Amino acid sequence: MKLSARSKLIKPAVTLALAAKAQALRAQGVDLANFTAGEPDFDTPQRIKDTAIVALKKGMTKYTDVRGIEPLREAVVAKYAREYGLSYTKDEVLVSCGGKHALYNVLQATLDPGDEVVIPAPYWVSYSDMTLLAGGAPKLVQTTEENGFRITPEQLKAALTPKTRMFILNSPSNPTGTGYSRDELMALIRVLERHDCMILSDDIYEKIVYEDFRFHNIVSLQPGLRERTILFNSVSKTYAMTGWRIGFAIGPAAVIKAAGTIQSQSTSNATSIAQAAAVEALNGPQDEVTAMVREFEARRDFVVARLKAMPGLSCYNPQGAFYVFPNVRSLFGRKWKEKTLATPADVVEYFLEVARVLCVPGEDFGSTENIRLSYATSLAELEKGCDRIEAAIKKLA
Ligand SMILES: Cc1ncc(COP(=O)(O)O)c(C=O)c1O
Repeated sequence: MKLSARSKLIKPAVTLALAAKAQALRAQGVDLANFTAGEPDFDTPQRIKDTAIVALKKGMTKYTDVRGIEPLREAVVAKYAREYGLSYTKDEVLVSCGGKHALYNVLQATLDPGDEVVIPAPYWVSYSDMTLLAGGAPKLVQTTEENGFRITPEQLKAALTPKTRMFILNSPSNPTGTGYSRDELMALIRVLERHDCMILSDDIYEKIVYEDFRFHNIVSLQPGLRERTILFNSVSKTYAMTGWRIGFAIGPAAVIKAAGTIQSQSTSNATSIAQAAAVEALNGPQDEVTAMVREFEARRDFVVARLKAMPGLSCYNPQGAFYVFPNVRSLFGRKWKEKTLATPADVVEYFLEVARVLCVPGEDFGSTENIRLSYATSLAELEKGCDRIEAAIKKLA
């Protein structure tokens, strides 16, 4: 059967394919240390689960408003007022099936063929493919580890052209964990002020930040950007609710309305009872989030120290999210059986075959030198995996 040209523009999300591989190996009884998870290993807090159960028992099992139930859109409005002093109305909020779906709808609603989208690389895998699906042209800007994987104002300025339709910001970032400080964001804002493009700020790791790093909302730093900025958020990572599929786009009513129309002709509303649960997530006590972040921070400290101590690896110390993105370049040229390691994918394959550790190669995030490890797994598992990687590196010729 003939497939559309559109379907051939993109590739399946590599992280999902690897998760399936891990499951298959485990089913065969292989003792695998799996560092591919893009989701917290914690359970959804009980109060949130209980809210969904009550909603179910009350019969909240029908279609809802396509844009999301009013209490949820109101909870999002209240969150942005409380946390960032921003005033949005519920017509400026769209509830979708996860942050990913919210981004997809907005890109579909705003991009025309040939529109350029500036994306700092390494980047979250879906930005470029979703841009392509919407007919846009991803313009990847390679950041360096020396700059903490942050796009510089000079790089941003050079990337913006009359064809630039939008800039995608992701802080803290997947896959690098990099967060932009207030001053770093202000420097980017100065460039964006002089160029009329949209700004998409994917803030889904805003709460998962460490030490004295503070997340800054770009609109609260520069309210003048409000009319051309769309904020993205989600309950997935903050509340360990990845499977519930609830995310948000927040921005000017015209864009939100157009994205909602696209949603109305594709999926309709996000799941009714998951929306009820998300209201509780946003409005209820936030203690579980604090406890989860404390645990992530201990794991980050552990895994960064271990990786840095391994001969041949360097590792940037992330400000947030739950990933590390070590540089494996110095393993290139080393030999295993007849094979010479030459790419991150080769290193990932080597670690899988020899160490029984599964990581994600950097290629799909736009890196030719790094691999991604998620530390959303127990300290014991991290220790086991690091021991194995260390031993495997020693075996290389
Ligand atoms: C940077 C980033 N944005 C968005 C998402 C989408 O998350 P969800 O659709 O579960 O809200 C992810 C998930 O991995 C992510 O890492």
